Amino acid sequence: MTDLSFNPNIAAAPIYVGGAAIADIQKQYGIDDIIKLASNESPLGPSPRAVAAMQAAAANLNRYPPMGDESLRSALAQLHGLEPDNFVTGNGGCDILNLLATAFLTPGDEAIICRPTFPVYDNTVRRVGAQVVYVDLEPDNFSYDVEAMLAAVTGKTRLLYVCSPNNPTGSTISAEQLDTLLNHLPPHVLLVMDEVYYHFAANHPDTLGYVRRGQNMVILHSFSKAYGLAGLRLGYGIAPAEIAQYLSRARLPFHLDSLTFAGGLAALADIDYVDEVVRLVKEGRAWLLAQLGQLDVRVWPSQGNFTLFKPPFDAAEVSERLLRRGVISRPMTQFYLPTHLRVTVGLPAENEKFIAALGAVLAELDAEGASRSVAARQAGSGEFKF
Ligand SMILES: Cc1ncc(COP(=O)(O)O)c(C=O)c1O
Repeated sequence: MTDLSFNPNIAAAPIYVGGAAIADIQKQYGIDDIIKLASNESPLGPSPRAVAAMQAAAANLNRYPPMGDESLRSALAQLHGLEPDNFVTGNGGCDILNLLATAFLTPGDEAIICRPTFPVYDNTVRRVGAQVVYVDLEPDNFSYDVEAMLAAVTGKTRLLYVCSPNNPTGSTISAEQLDTLLNHLPPHVLLVMDEVYYHFAANHPDTLGYVRRGQNMVILHSFSKAYGLAGLRLGYGIAPAEIAQYLSRARLPFHLDSLTFAGGLAALADIDYVDEVVRLVKEGRAWLLAQLGQLDVRVWPSQGNFTLFKPPFDAAEVSERLLRRGVISRPMTQFYLPTHLRVTVGLPAENEKFIAALGAVLAELDAEGASRSVAARQAGSGEFKF
C-alpha cells in the first residue's frame, strides 16, 4: 500500500462536500421533522411527467443506453433555437465542468475564478494540475470586477469562470459587463458562463447570441434546479460547434443512463412544471428576503433560488442550532465565506419554519451573550476579505 503513488494533483484538490442529507440529520439528531434548504433543489419534487417516463424506461434497463446523445441534443437545440452540434451533455453540470478542465487545461495552465463562488471550479481545475488565479468579487455587493478579471489574464490563462446568477451570492453579471469582457478577452481564453440558475433571474443577458456568433464561450445549464431533477444527474454545455464537439470527445462512453434520457426528454416537454417552480421560487424569495431584512443578519438581494446571509454570531454555531430545530441550511466555508450561511427557497411552510427557527436561534445566542466578534477574528487570517 505504501508503495502506491497517488496522483498528487487529485490529492491536493479540495474535496467537495454537498448539503447534509435529511436521513443523516434525522439519525444524528433524533428528529423526524426535518426540512432541507441546503442544496438549491426544487421545492416541488420532480415533474410527474418525468417520473412516469423514467418508470416506463426502467423496463428496458437490461439494454445499454444510446451511445450518442442525439435525441437530447435535438430537443435542447429546439428549446434554445440552436443546432444539435452546439450541445454537449453530461452527468450533471459538474460533469461538464470536469470535461472543461480535462479538455482545455494541462499542468501549469491558469484558470481564473471569481470568488466567492461554486467550489467545483476550483476542484476540477486543481485535479488536472492547473493553477487557480482568484479575482474577488466586490466585497460589499458581490458584483463582478471586469477590469480586475481582464487584468488577471496572462499568456497561460485558458479558462475564465463567470457564474450568473452566482452561487452563493445571488449576484449577476450585467449585459454591458459581459460585452466588455468578451470584447477584450484574448482568443486563447475560453469563457465558462455558468447559468444553472438563469430561470430565476430577472434580467438575463442574451448569452446564446454570443454562441451563435461563434464566441469562445461555453454556457452551462442543469436539470438540477428549475427542472427539479437534481438526483437524476443531467446537465449540458452550449457552445460553438467546434468547442462542443471537442468537449464531447472528452466524455466516457455511455455517459448518460437510459433513465436520464427518458426523464430529461420528458422534463423538457413539461413547461408547466418549470413555470410553477419559477413562480414559487420568485414569490418565496421575495418573502424570505423581506423576513431576513427584519432579523439581526446582513442579507443580499438574490437572482437565484437561494439567499446568502451573514449572522452576527459564529455561522457554524448558527447552522448547528438550526439543525437542532429541524432546518438544514448551508454553511459557506468551502464557498470562501466562513462567516456566512445560504438558504434555499422552499415551499411557503418551509420558508416560515426556517425564519421562525433562525429568529429563535439568534435570540437564544443573544440571550447567552455569545461573541459577536466573529468577523474581526477571521479578518486576521488574511485568507478571506469578505
Ligand atoms: C453554480 C453551479 N454550477 C453548477 C452546479 C452543478 O449542478 P449539477 O451538477 O447538479 O447539474 C451547481 C450545483 O449546485 C451550481 O450551483
